[in-house]
Amino acid sequence: MTALARGWHARNAVSHNVLSPAETQAFDRLGYHFPLRAFSAAEIADYRARLEAFESGHGGRLAGQLRNKPHLLFTWADAMVRHPAILDAVEDVLGPDLLVWSSSFFTKEARDPSYVSWHQDSTYWGLSEPDVVTAWVAFSDSAPDNGCMRVVPGTHTLDQLPHRDTFAENNLLTRGQEVQVKVDSSQAVDVVLAPGEFSLHHVRLVHGSDPNPSGRRRIGFAIRYVPPYVRQVAGPGDSAMLVRGQDRHGHFEPEPRPRADFGEAERAAHARFTDQAARILYRGTDKPVPR
Ligand code: NI
Repeated sequence: MTALARGWHARNAVSHNVLSPAETQAFDRLGYHFPLRAFSAAEIADYRARLEAFESGHGGRLAGQLRNKPHLLFTWADAMVRHPAILDAVEDVLGPDLLVWSSSFFTKEARDPSYVSWHQDSTYWGLSEPDVVTAWVAFSDSAPDNGCMRVVPGTHTLDQLPHRDTFAENNLLTRGQEVQVKVDSSQAVDVVLAPGEFSLHHVRLVHGSDPNPSGRRRIGFAIRYVPPYVRQVAGPGDSAMLVRGQDRHGHFEPEPRPRADFGEAERAAHARFTDQAARILYRGTDKPVPR
């Protein structure tokens, strides 16, 4: 049984909390599903206000490793990654036992040249099988004119594609990695989301995004979920946080929930776990692991 087939069988043992059987089949065929709603306009505005209040005291944006695993630093981000509306949808795809393996903000300021090259998430993550789903939560609206995510339907059924590292200046990815095969961008679909909505995408789906020439800030929060049978195979250690069901495998070191926002213990745990994760993501390069 292939890894993908294993995921398929796991999925068919579970319920349809949010996605109908037809939508689950569409996810299997296309590799993504949207829009789903997790937060009301007022709720997501409150989350955005908390994020931006922190940013205004720290140079105006989350820089360096603060972008990654913020759910270890902030109680509001912890609440987000375990929000039932998100977990119910992810459970429909990955089954009842769920770990948050990582999370990252992908922010494009107004008139920001930052972009994301065409890539598969699975390329450098070092995970044992492609049973990994991202919930991409829109803090702002995300539309073609402010650099929304774009996906190429069905590409998740391809095997791992070769990528090359560019380390290009305005690329938001760790290594500026891009697929080496030609992407037919005429086939790409714009993942248009309103604030408080989210999309799901498969770890092998080819996706990317353009710069933001608009006058509006575009903020997305990507949460990476795995079932506990997935393992890290590229590094000596990795960590994750159980958010639903049970972990009968123990492949990941459990991460602590934050009790206070940006507290001393929270910052120490975050630094240790993001440093360990960065060593996996940057393996085989001569780039210094960023702080
Ligand atoms: Ni990606």
